[in-house]
Amino acid sequence: MKLWSGRFEKNTDSLVDRLNASISYDQRMYAEDITGSMAHAAMLGARGIIPQDEAERIVKALGEILEDCKAGKIEFSEENEDIHMNVEVLLTQRIGDAGKRLHTARSRNDQVAVDLRLYLRKEITMLEEQVRSLIEAICGKAEQHLHAIMPAYTHLQRAQPSTFAHYTMAYAEMLLRDLGRLSDCRARLNLCPLGSGAACGTTYPIDREMTAGNLGFDGPTRNSIDGVSDRDYVVELASALSLLMMHLSRFSEELILWTSLEFGFITLDDAYATGSSIMPQKKNPDVAELVRGKTGRVYGHLMGLLTVLKGLPLAYNKDMQEDKEAIFDCLDTVSDCLAVFTPMYQTMTVRTDRLRRAASEGFINATDCADYLVKKGLPFRDAYTHTGKLVHHCIETGETLETLPLEEYQAVSPSFDEGVYQAIDLDVCLSCRQVPGGPAPEMVQAHIGQVRALLKNGGA
Ligand code: ARG
Repeated sequence: MKLWSGRFEKNTDSLVDRLNASISYDQRMYAEDITGSMAHAAMLGARGIIPQDEAERIVKALGEILEDCKAGKIEFSEENEDIHMNVEVLLTQRIGDAGKRLHTARSRNDQVAVDLRLYLRKEITMLEEQVRSLIEAICGKAEQHLHAIMPAYTHLQRAQPSTFAHYTMAYAEMLLRDLGRLSDCRARLNLCPLGSGAACGTTYPIDREMTAGNLGFDGPTRNSIDGVSDRDYVVELASALSLLMMHLSRFSEELILWTSLEFGFITLDDAYATGSSIMPQKKNPDVAELVRGKTGRVYGHLMGLLTVLKGLPLAYNKDMQEDKEAIFDCLDTVSDCLAVFTPMYQTMTVRTDRLRRAASEGFINATDCADYLVKKGLPFRDAYTHTGKLVHHCIETGETLETLPLEEYQAVSPSFDEGVYQAIDLDVCLSCRQVPGGPAPEMVQAHIGQVRALLKNGGA
């Protein structure tokens, strides 16, 4: 029999039960549901709303149910719809009438909101750890490749000299922002809706500060209708996770390109690559491709959540039950991706010879050549035009700026002298980029230090 069957004469159709039940996916919030109920029962007892000894029995029995859940001894039933009613039914089976007092001054509407906030708070903290590990892995690899010259690209055309360290530390910055967004989201969701009731609070003399405090919230929510209607934090988290996936996807795309014969910048460890069923020679970057592909599904959930909420009148509507599968899948997807991406990144080999070869073709020192003329007193725009002519000439004759004879330089501008060869030397180009944020090895080393200090201070 349903907990709410009093008003009804007939049982629900079994198809309705199937559509209505959320236990198959909301059971993952059992610990949060039980801890929320323990805090609620303790408060009811402390305020004399239910007898203190019964409150204590409830708390004790809930503790036992929690242990049984952890030990996998509990089978939840679809009959009882969701995790909230399943736990309440179990409690009443175990301690009788005292269990029936638990739901005093509470509704499933504030209950589910508190469960979800507690659950997401915990998950955010676990995800942050995974993001941190990836940032540390990026810093570690960067530190080993401070001098590994490679081209940076614009329009996917070789552009200017960078290093593997400088290039990849860009991803550390993106991930630091992701950490910031996750912690903002946690800070904003950390208010307790318990006491909002179904929509309009309660007449019982409850103590909302007490339950909020006991559950580690910063305080109670400030409007009971908003308390049960708000799912902004779910959308906010899905949005933060979408951005995180966008970063992982861009990084994956680079790794996919870099493993190709055309680039050949990295080699993946065999443990993180796959073969082909027909082409014996293949070693495919499936992990990176899957991360790139799974980004689409996280974006999809974000759009799904926004669409579910759009147009919902206040306060609770059953549509909101749709929030869970979406956000749970976002969390699972991101966590699975990070769990594999990080060791894949750590174990891959960087082919510094290939990076350097790519850097030595494509005139990525052309800006430096123009800057050399500027140091000789030419206006930048003239220096730029002269260098452009030299590059054009090199392309025609198959030369590089390094091999071009000095007479050819001087034919374009008499300001050139022997010093130009030093100025366009790739290692010199690199070490001269001493600007904070630039690729000079000392600058990147300093950046790595800053990122590590941010991680250590827990901030971003
Ligand atoms: N399973 C429901 C959900 O996830 C819990 C809240 C149900 N409230 C209600 N009034 N039916 O949203």
